[in-house]
This record gives sequence, structure tokens and C-alpha cells, in this order.
Amino acid sequence: MSSGNNIKRMKLYRHPERIYKEIAAAGYKENSPLKEKDIASFDQYHYLGVNAVDDVIGCLKIDSQSRLIDIGSGLGGPARYLAEKTGCQVTAVEFQPEMHHIACSLTERCDLSGSVHHLCADILDFPEKGSNFDAVVSWLAFLHIPNRSSLLRKCCKILKPGGKMFIEDFYKRGEFNQEEARILSEDVQCPYLPALEEYKNQLIENNFTKVDLIDKTGCWNDFVRERVEKFIGNRKRYTGMCGIKVTEEIEDFYKKILQLFNNGNLGGLRIIAVKDF
Ligand SMILES: C[S@@+](CC[C@H](N)C(=O)[O-])C[C@H]1O[C@@H](n2cnc3c(N)ncnc32)[C@H](O)[C@@H]1O
Repeated sequence: MSSGNNIKRMKLYRHPERIYKEIAAAGYKENSPLKEKDIASFDQYHYLGVNAVDDVIGCLKIDSQSRLIDIGSGLGGPARYLAEKTGCQVTAVEFQPEMHHIACSLTERCDLSGSVHHLCADILDFPEKGSNFDAVVSWLAFLHIPNRSSLLRKCCKILKPGGKMFIEDFYKRGEFNQEEARILSEDVQCPYLPALEEYKNQLIENNFTKVDLIDKTGCWNDFVRERVEKFIGNRKRYTGMCGIKVTEEIEDFYKKILQLFNNGNLGGLRIIAVKDF
């Protein structure tokens, strides 16, 4: 089971339609054609934006022949960027209907509907037969799915033998205190996180090999700190654009994430692994 039913409690996800206001404020007319690079500063719900997506292109050698699945694709930013830059095919699986619909409309406006195929579903229900993807990619979605053995089993089943996985996720660096555990499970909808070794063992148990775990904690901590500073600096403009309630909710969410990273028990991880033959 995903933590899905309560996911709208998370302030980051309450008003995804704000992206239309951000696009309009950037000077684009309603329903006008877009390029993914024009909207990439609004539609990436992970850390370090398209730089993190460029890394996947290099690490996994993605090209126009590649078939990818993006798990927890949000507003579709990473999937569109991958397709626009490399010509690859991406199946973008997103659990929340509202995010999914916005993702579809942006993909259409970017004229990428031929290469990005959006599906509104829980990844745990994704059909395995005939999938055979070259790669599984995912940014900050695994943290919402506590049933890791089902999730990793699913990833393995939908990859071709030798297929690769590139995941960015949280992990447990130290024991969370009561307040941290509450923020994680309620405000971040992240009821469970493995420690580093535990994560590695789970991957190996589920038929992944060449498991490379890269600690991103330091640069993610810098990113979330700068994100708060930038948001506060732009608060007046953001309030004018999206209203006080939305602005306060986003600011609160960003500050809670910063608090978790500053406390030192939350870590950030990039995982690159290969499905064993
Ligand atoms: C932090 S957002 C990241 C979105 C996107 N990966 C990005 O980087 O822009 C995580 C997304 O995962 C989705 N998600 C969570 N659990 C899911 C599940 N079981 N199946 C599909 N999507 C899921 C959430 O709804 C959310 O949109």
C-alpha cells in the first residue's frame, strides 16, 4: 500500500494548479504552446531541478531508443525534460489525479504527448506483463511508499534483465526524535525510511546488483536552505500571484523540510542499480 489516501494533507501538493499562475506570470498566454525548458523552474518537485535529470541522462546513457518509467512523476517535469532532450519514451506514473491532469495538459502544450505517456495509478498496481523497461527513474516518490519490498519487487519485474534504476530518495541517517517522526509521517507523508545499509540490503534482496548509493545530504541541505531564503525573499510577489493561504502553506512545508535536514537525521540519497540477469 502507498501512503496515498492522505497525500493531500501534504501542503506541497494542495494547490498544484498554482503552476498555471506561475506560467502566466512568466509571460505565457493561457493554453499557449510551451517548451519544457520554459517551465522547468516550476514543474520539478525535487532537488536541484533539471541538473538532477541531466545526471540521469549521463549516468544511464539515455537516448532516443530508451524506454523509461518515471515513478511518482508529479507534474511531469522530469519526464518531459527527458523526452525533449533525448527523444526517449517515458511512461509517467502519478498517483494523484489532479497532478496527473495538469501533467497531461502541460505535456500537450509542450507537444510531447507522442513521447510522454501519462498514467494515473498507484505504481504498486502497475501491470508487470510485457513491461520490459530499459530504466526506472524516480525523484522523491519512494519516500511516500512504505511497502518497500512490494515497490522494489515491482521495479525489478517491470525492468528488462540488465535494466537500470536511478532513484533519488530520503533515508534515515540517525534516529528521528518524536517531533521529526511526526513531521515526516504527517507533513511529508513519509511514514517509513530505511537506513543506508538496510536500503542496500533491500535492493540486493530484490535482485538488484551493482548497487551504488551516493549520499546527497550536503548538497540537498544547501538546496533546501536556499529554497527557503529565496521563497521568503519573493514572498510578496508570490502572495500577489497565488494568495496568502497558498504562500503560507508552501513556506511552512519548505521550512519543515529544512528543519529536518538541519537536525541531521534526515539524509538524501541517489541510488543507481542494475537488475540482475
Ligand atoms: C515529491 S513529488 C515528485 C514529483 C516528480 N518526481 C518530480 O520530481 O517533479 C512525489 C510524487 O510521487 C507521487 N506518488 C506517491 N506515491 C505514489 C504511488 N504509490 N504511485 C504513483 N505515484 C506516487 C506523489 O503523488 C507525488 O506527486
